[in-house]
This record gives sequence, C-alpha cells and structure tokens, in this order.
Amino acid sequence: MTATREPSASVHGSDPMRLVGADTEVPLVTGGTRRYVNLDYAASAPALQAVHDAIEELLGWYSSVHRGAGFKSRASTAAYEGARESIRAFVNGRPDDAVIITRNTTDSINLLAGTLPEGTHVIAFAGEHHANLLPWKRIGVRYLPVPETPAEMLDQLTATLRDLPHCEDPHLVAVTGASNVTGEMWPLADIARVAHEHDARLLVDAAQLAPHAPIDMQRDGIDYLALSAHKLYAPYGAGALVGERDWLSAGDPFLRGGGAVKLVTIDETLWADLPDRQEAGSPNVIGAVAMGVACDALAAAGMERIAAEEAELLTYARARLASVEGFEHYRVWPADHPRVGLLTFNLLGVPYDLLAAVLSAEYGIGIRHGCFCAHPLMMRLLRVDDAEAQRLIDVTRTGGHERLPGAARMSLGLGSTRADVDALTDALRAIAADGPGWTYAVNDRTDEYEPDPDPRPLPALSMRLEEHPHGHGESA
Ligand SMILES: Cc1ncc(COP(=O)(O)O)c(C=O)c1O
Repeated sequence: MTATREPSASVHGSDPMRLVGADTEVPLVTGGTRRYVNLDYAASAPALQAVHDAIEELLGWYSSVHRGAGFKSRASTAAYEGARESIRAFVNGRPDDAVIITRNTTDSINLLAGTLPEGTHVIAFAGEHHANLLPWKRIGVRYLPVPETPAEMLDQLTATLRDLPHCEDPHLVAVTGASNVTGEMWPLADIARVAHEHDARLLVDAAQLAPHAPIDMQRDGIDYLALSAHKLYAPYGAGALVGERDWLSAGDPFLRGGGAVKLVTIDETLWADLPDRQEAGSPNVIGAVAMGVACDALAAAGMERIAAEEAELLTYARARLASVEGFEHYRVWPADHPRVGLLTFNLLGVPYDLLAAVLSAEYGIGIRHGCFCAHPLMMRLLRVDDAEAQRLIDVTRTGGHERLPGAARMSLGLGSTRADVDALTDALRAIAADGPGWTYAVNDRTDEYEPDPDPRPLPALSMRLEEHPHGHGESA
C-alpha cells in the first residue's frame, strides 16, 4: 500500500515548524510568571507541530503492525515502514543499509556492541558521552586520550590503527558527530577515510549532530549511525541505528523474542532477516512515525539553513556571554572550530547546581547542569586530577554523598532567539553582581539545590503527578 503525502504540511494548517509549548508560561518563586526560556535542547527537544499533528492523525488509524490483516494494521504498518525510509533519506543512508528502529542512541549503540563479530577491536576516545563509551567496555576497547586538536585526533587514530595486530579481526572506530559538552563537530569524512585506509569501520554517535547539521552517510563514508528522536523534535521514545547489514545479521540478534524469527521449535530458531531480526517485541510505531515525520519536516526546512542560522545565534551568544564578569566557557578544540549550538560554562563563585536552580526559579530559564554523562571529559575540563577522581569514586562507592564537580550548559535549537540569549546573559550578570534573590538549600534526597521555600505549584495537568522518590541517574 502506498500513498502520497506532503511532508511539511501540518494537518491543522498551523506552522509545521512551530514547537509545541513554545509560549508556555512558568511560575517564578518571586511571584508571577514568564515565558519559559528553553536553553536545554541538547538534553531533549520539544515536539514539532508537524510531529504532533501527524501523531494525532495516526492515532485514529493506529493498530498492530506487520502481521495484522486488518485495514488499520495495513495503514499503521505502512506508516511504520515509511518512517524507516524517511530516516534513511534524512541521513542519506545507502539503499541497502539496515534502518533499525530502537529506543534511542544508547539502545542503538548497545545493539551494535551486542552484535559485533567475535574479536572486533573497538577504538573510542575518552571524551565520548557514556552512551558511546560504556557499551564497548564489555568487548575489548582501546580508549584514546581526549585529543587537543582535530589534527591530533587523526594522528592518534592513524597510529593506533596502524599498530593494531595485523589479524583478520574486524576493527570499529566509534566517535561522536558533535560533543554534547563542547559542541565541537568531529571531521567525519576525514575519520572515515583514516578508518577505511586501515580496514576499520566507522560508527558515528549522531545524537547531538542530527538535530543541528546535515548528515550524509554516503558522502562521508559513515558505516553506522546512531540517533535519538527526542533530540530531533519527536519525543515519542524512538531512535534508530542505520548501517551495514552484514554484522547486524550474522549472529544471534541483540534482543530475542517475537517478531525477530521465521520459525521456532524447541530445539531450533530460524531468525528473521533485517530489520525484523533486530526489532524483537512489539515496535514503538508511534515513536518511529514521529521520528520519520520530524526527519521529513527538518529536511523540507533545510538542514543547511538550520545549521547556518544556529551558527549565527551561537556566535551572538558567545560574544554576549563572554561579556559577563566571571563567565568561564569550556572547550577542547580551537575557538574557531565548527560546533553545534551549545556552551558549557561556570560562573565564578556560584556553584553550578545553585546557578541552574536560580535561573529556573527566579528567571524561568531552563538549562542543564552536572557532568552531562561525559565524566572523563568533564574531569579533564574541570582539571580534576586522577587522584581526586579516584577519591570521588571511593567516596561514592561507599555510599558517600559528596557533591561532584560540574558545570552548566545552555543549548540552542529551532525557535531559539537572541531574546533567549539576552535573557540568560542578563540573568547571569545579575547573579554575578548580586547573587541569588531567594534562599536555596541542598535537598538531601536529590543532592541538588532547590528554592527554600518553593512556592511554585506544579501545573494543573490532567494526569497524576508524583515527585521523583530519589536522586536521578544523570542523562544527556
Ligand atoms: C552525544 C550524545 N550521545 C549519546 C546520547 C544518548 O542519547 P539517548 O539518551 O537519547 O540515548 C546523548 C544524550 O544526551 C548525547 O548527547
């Protein structure tokens, strides 16, 4: 069943590139409300109107996919398979690449890690997000130190690949497309060239790159690409792994269960072909379709244009924020290296978590704080030496509650404006000059600063609301 559709059209005729909730007012501890200033796109991005409308439309047609004979099943299956093709087109995957729907980037990378051929040598850099650092630990990985420059990175990679034992074992280089801490974009075509010269394959963690810059797997020679829909303006719980089929279809699948098989007896299992082979269990149809619609809408808007507008806003933000007394911005590579729209920083004399609490409570500004799931990179940027890192591990292992070093991060996306940057700049300037305008205390449960008292009521939503019972694992 095929049907034509207009990718960028919104069902209700509203702007498909509008962001749901863009005008939301949030309460301030000091009284009144203000428009929420979202500077936390790198953690999770709001839904595009086009995505919201498409999902509302699909829900009326929602039913089981693949083996359902009902007409709604046919429609839902076609939407699910259509999403796969939209994702492939968005990253310019090869026609014969597998496009596997996953939960997110973490799931995609774990899937690849779980299906690598026996004996694969993995090479990854120490500055990666934990999603592209930890899955390799089980496999046999060579971690290279955080490189000071892109040229040093290529040299390190070349030397390491050259010195690997000359055996038939496969090699995989796993790098980020753009760092979630510094925003620095990695030179993917150069890395692919070096990898391929040494018969290695390249996996790119595109969680941060995909929402902000065009990706071309074919042109750049990217063998595998992992991405998350919730950072791509489609927060409905899906992600994808795109890449070469042979490794993904050689052994047993990463997850075993219904949908991934052709035939099962008690003694034997015949696994299905890709992509079903790696999609055991009932798929997240709504999430996949949301992701596909977001890919189409972003492609229609033009990723080159989106990247150029964001680069211009980032230049503005860097100049404005640098003028704030005590503003310290973290980077690894030279200042003029291309980067996606985010800045990680500290404000001298103000703990990073207190800063985030004040920005939220008194100014209605949402940012991220902590170590951004990139502990080794943050330790280096914050100049935490090995002995201190070990002491923190020992304290934490034995149940101690020492507040960890960290920083604040502001990140931009579709709909971000100079007014948002100005709001942050003015707030930081006021905090640097006068400190918080409210009282704050560390909550023993979460180890985080919170306004004390906090008179802000949670919004009157129709669903049941409960506070999180304990501190959160870090993400993003
Ligand atoms: C660079 C990078 N890689 C991987 C991830 C993991 O993404 P997810 O939590 O969607 O699996 C993130 C999330 O922040 C990220 O920034």
